[in-house]
Amino acid sequence: MTQVRTARVDHAPAAVVERLVALAGLAPSVHNTQPWLWEYVDQRLTLHADHRRQLAAEDPSGRNLTISCGAALHHLEFAASALGWETAVHHLPVPSDRGVLAEVVVGRTGPHPVDAEAIRLLRERCTDRRRFTAWPVPGDRLDTLCRTAALWGAEAQAVTDEASRFRLELLANQALTTMEFDRQQRAEQDSWIDRADAAGIPHALLPHHPDPLQARSRFQPGLLEDARLALHGCDRVIAIGSAADDVEGWIVAGQALSAVWLEAARQGLSVVPMSQPIEDADARAEITRDVLGSAFVPHILLRVGWQAMGRRELARTPRRPLQEVLNHRALRGAKGPDGAGIPTVGEAQSGP
Ligand SMILES: Cc1cc2nc3c(=O)[nH]c(=O)nc-3n(C[C@H](O)[C@H](O)[C@H](O)COP(=O)(O)O)c2cc1C
Repeated sequence: MTQVRTARVDHAPAAVVERLVALAGLAPSVHNTQPWLWEYVDQRLTLHADHRRQLAAEDPSGRNLTISCGAALHHLEFAASALGWETAVHHLPVPSDRGVLAEVVVGRTGPHPVDAEAIRLLRERCTDRRRFTAWPVPGDRLDTLCRTAALWGAEAQAVTDEASRFRLELLANQALTTMEFDRQQRAEQDSWIDRADAAGIPHALLPHHPDPLQARSRFQPGLLEDARLALHGCDRVIAIGSAADDVEGWIVAGQALSAVWLEAARQGLSVVPMSQPIEDADARAEITRDVLGSAFVPHILLRVGWQAMGRRELARTPRRPLQEVLNHRALRGAKGPDGAGIPTVGEAQSGP
């Protein structure tokens, strides 16, 4: 898909591009793997999927990796707009290499004001896994978030009717159970907790589970005082997806995820992605059919709710330094989890 917003006259100087890539790095990513690499050559910024950071056991198709990169792409576009720049984005510019996810040109036809509030949103957005309050999120807010996703070309649906909701809860719990019995997946997930490098999730940000029967989360118990079910009654859920389960759909879903999350944050809402029911092929097929009526293929589920006012602010997850993610060359040798060169992300699968 090509998105050309406006004509440009002045290209952004390299210092602006560096700042944008740094702000894009604040994007959410699966297990905080930050699986993106940016290359800046001839005033073109290219976004590469870094398959060396792919979760081989949990994400063999690369769906979550690509969604994470799509979120970083949207963060970059959002940051550019906030700093008064325009972006022209071209998805999958190299048909023979699906690891080259997007090409971006940053420029402007004239000066625009800086939107400090938007920059604040980028800095403050975070994954807060503490239990939401019981205050329901009004339907019109969910509609606004779904429309925000649609603006980025994604399909989105709030799961509100009771039958679909119960079905989703059941499937989410089943998917967690399946994962808990998969030693490879558990080991892989644990390897992204409390890492020495600037990636992964600090233990202190994961909910503490005193009762293993009540407390369901994909991660091992952490230090954060709280207990939760996989999906609590007051959580609202939005499914984001596209017509086809392919790389283009995952990029768009990532952009939409980021756009929805930042809009939710602007409204004071908290968002927590829930990807394990999608990672499980059987659960994904059942969600597509039974919950979404085969309207589209879901790529990510989002729990949406209100955090209690006055809760302590959470520490931020770490981010890789700019020099690790912004490259002027040196990408061609990136290896995937199987040791092969930059691998092709999972081939397109059939739509609903
Ligand atoms: C594609 C994707 C899948 C994710 N899946 C989950 C999940 O299943 N459970 C969860 O608690 N967080 C999930 N997250 C949130 C990440 O763990 C989080 O974004 C990352 O640790 C960085 O932290 P931050 O969002 O606070 O910046 C997911 C994020 C993305 C982009």
